Amino acid sequence: MFPETRMRRLRRTPNIRRMVQDIQLNMNDYIYPIFVVEGEDIKKPIVSMPGINQFSLDHLLEEVQRAVDAGVIAIMLFGIPAHKDDCGSEAYNDDGIIQKAVRLVRANYPDLVISTDVCMCEYTDHGHCGIIKGETVDNDSTVALLAKIAVSHAKAGADILAPSDMMDGRIGAIRDALDDAGYEDVIIMAHSVKYASGFYGPFRDAAESAPHFGDRKSYQMDPASGTRQALQEVELDLAEGADMVIIKPSLAYLDLIATTYDNTLVPIVAYNVSAEYSMVKAAAANGWIDEKTIVLEIMNAFKRAGAKMVITYHAIDLGNWLKEEQ
Ligand code: PBG
Repeated sequence: MFPETRMRRLRRTPNIRRMVQDIQLNMNDYIYPIFVVEGEDIKKPIVSMPGINQFSLDHLLEEVQRAVDAGVIAIMLFGIPAHKDDCGSEAYNDDGIIQKAVRLVRANYPDLVISTDVCMCEYTDHGHCGIIKGETVDNDSTVALLAKIAVSHAKAGADILAPSDMMDGRIGAIRDALDDAGYEDVIIMAHSVKYASGFYGPFRDAAESAPHFGDRKSYQMDPASGTRQALQEVELDLAEGADMVIIKPSLAYLDLIATTYDNTLVPIVAYNVSAEYSMVKAAAANGWIDEKTIVLEIMNAFKRAGAKMVITYHAIDLGNWLKEEQ
């Protein structure tokens, strides 16, 4: 008790504080998303995500190099095709935009970890994450296509596949298809806990993937659902062969990162989604917050909750800030 115990003793100098710190941020843990579009000489800023651009293939390696220079060791690629149709056929075209992007990065950066978003919403003309039957997305025919998409990404050279569609049974189908095609070492990082969230708004500008009718509530989770449903999603994906699980969005769902940490053994990934990024950027641009302080604080929160990795649009800034701190 006070006055024998004084909490402030361990806070007295910067080095004492460093010694007792529990969380050390490390660039091994960040995955930087990059949007790749078809066309030439495109570096198109996403207005709702300051600092983030769409890149055509001829500018892609500039962005990859900027990330590598900041200490990034893993990226996540999103493809935006010129041609969209009702079954998202460009998603599994071996010469599609995402497959070309993966091959280009792989050829130039043999050691960089390349992950890809496995989904159909960027590729369908209706903007939904699968095949439409009647009013809704048909689960089983979508799963068959997702498996095909996954194999094409693996064939192009992706290390990690991140299915983000929320169809039932897709992890098992993707694992089987990968194994049958000889890609048993390709990793599945499943969007296991993914909510039908308002926090994806700016991403849909970047990926041109907003649904043209309705919403994603019949396949993504209800933000008002409880912890037990999240744990069931995780359990199913792990049983089907997921190697890592994503919780998405992240800031309003830190409790689920912590609960998943307590209930599983696999690495947990927080997806620090687009609006979480844009809110920080907007407030910083207005001079209302100090961006670096806020971002470091958010990254500490993910670690404290139990996330091993974070997919974040802040990754390049973060890498540069962490260098400054050293
Ligand atoms: C779907 C996908 C989405 C995001 C990543 N993959 C959007 C959605 O489900 O509508 C959102 C990521 C973000 O907001 O940063 N392919």
